[in-house]
Amino acid sequence: MSPTVLQQADAHHPALSEPKNVQYTYTDPLSEFPALSGVDASFDGSTPIIDMEGLLGPQRSDFIKKIGHACEKNGFFAVKNHGIPEMKINNMLDTARDFFHLPEEERLKFRSSDPDSIIRLVTGFQDKTRNIFVSRQSLKFHCHPVEDFKNQWPSTPPSFREKVGEYCASVRKVEVAILEAISESLGLERDYIDKLLKGHYVSINYYPACQESELDVTHGVRTHTDPTLITILMQDDVPGLQVINDDKWIDVNPIPDAVVVHVGDMLQALSNCRYKSLLHQAVVNCEKERISIASYCYPSDDAAIGPAKKLIDDDHPAIYKDFTYKEFHESMWRVKCSTAKRLDLFKAESD
Ligand code: OGA
Ligand code: NI
Repeated sequence: MSPTVLQQADAHHPALSEPKNVQYTYTDPLSEFPALSGVDASFDGSTPIIDMEGLLGPQRSDFIKKIGHACEKNGFFAVKNHGIPEMKINNMLDTARDFFHLPEEERLKFRSSDPDSIIRLVTGFQDKTRNIFVSRQSLKFHCHPVEDFKNQWPSTPPSFREKVGEYCASVRKVEVAILEAISESLGLERDYIDKLLKGHYVSINYYPACQESELDVTHGVRTHTDPTLITILMQDDVPGLQVINDDKWIDVNPIPDAVVVHVGDMLQALSNCRYKSLLHQAVVNCEKERISIASYCYPSDDAAIGPAKKLIDDDHPAIYKDFTYKEFHESMWRVKCSTAKRLDLFKAESD
C-alpha cells in the first residue's frame, strides 16, 4: 500500500507556537519519490529564464518554443520582464510579513479546515507518528475577481486588501499571457486553456526560521505537486524551493525580479502528459524566516480536463479520460494518496 501523505489541509491543528523545530534537511523519509540522497550540487543553477518581452513582437514564436521546451523538459522556468511592478511585489511581501507577525490570535481568526472556504489559515503541524514537523503556515484565499473576495480578506494590517489586491490583479495578467503561450506551444488555439480558466487562488506561505527540537525532521512543505494548471511562485530573497529535475532534487534559488512558473496536475492531464506536473518542496532555513507567494490558476468546476483532442492520435493515445475539474477536486480531498498519484484515478481504460 502506498504511504499516506498528509496534504496541507489534513493538518490537525496544534497551537501555532507549540512546535519549534529542527534541522535544515533535504530528505523526505516518507517518499516514494526519487532517492533523496542530497541536492544535486553539480546543478549549475541554470533555471531556464524566459524573457516575457519576447511575447510581443516578432520573437513571439521563439518565446513560445522556449516555454514549450521548458515545460516539457524541466516542468518549470523563471520569467523576467513579467510586468508586475517591483513596487507591487515589495508591497505584497511586506504585507505578507506584517500579517504573519501579527499576534497569534489575530491570525487564528482565519483558521479553517474547510477546503472550500473563501479564506483559510493553515498552521504548521506535527506528524508525531513519523516524527516530522511541517513548519509552513499559510493564508490561502480566492482572489479573482479581486472585488468579489477582498471584503473577506484580513483588514489588519490595514493595507492588506489594497496591496494584496493590486498584486493579485497584476499576477493574473501574467498567468493569462503564459497560459496563452503554453496553449500555442502545444499546437492548440491560443485561448484553449484560457477558456477553461476560472479561479485564481493565492497562498501566502510563511516559513519561520527553525530552531533545534526533539522531532527528527522539519519540512517547510513536503514533496507535492500542485492541483493547478500552472503555479506562479514569487519568493523573497531567502532560498527554500526545491524541485525534481532529472530525478534529482535541485535548489531553485530566488532570481531577482523574476518569478517561477511551474506545471500543475491539470496541465499534465490536458497535455496528455507531455508537460508533467512538477514535484517540489520547500525546506526551512535555520537563521531566516522566508515568505513566498504562490498563485494557483485553476479551471472552472465544469471545465473538461481530459487530454486535448488535438493531441490524441494512434501514436498518442489518451492517457486520461475526460473529467471535470470538479470531479478532480472532490477526489483530491476524499482520497488520501500522494499528490503525485492523484491523477492516476483519472487514467483512461486501456483496451
Ligand atoms: C506551494 C508551494 C513552495 C515554496 O505553495 O504550493 O509549493 O517555495 N510553495 O513556498
Ligand atoms: Ni506547491
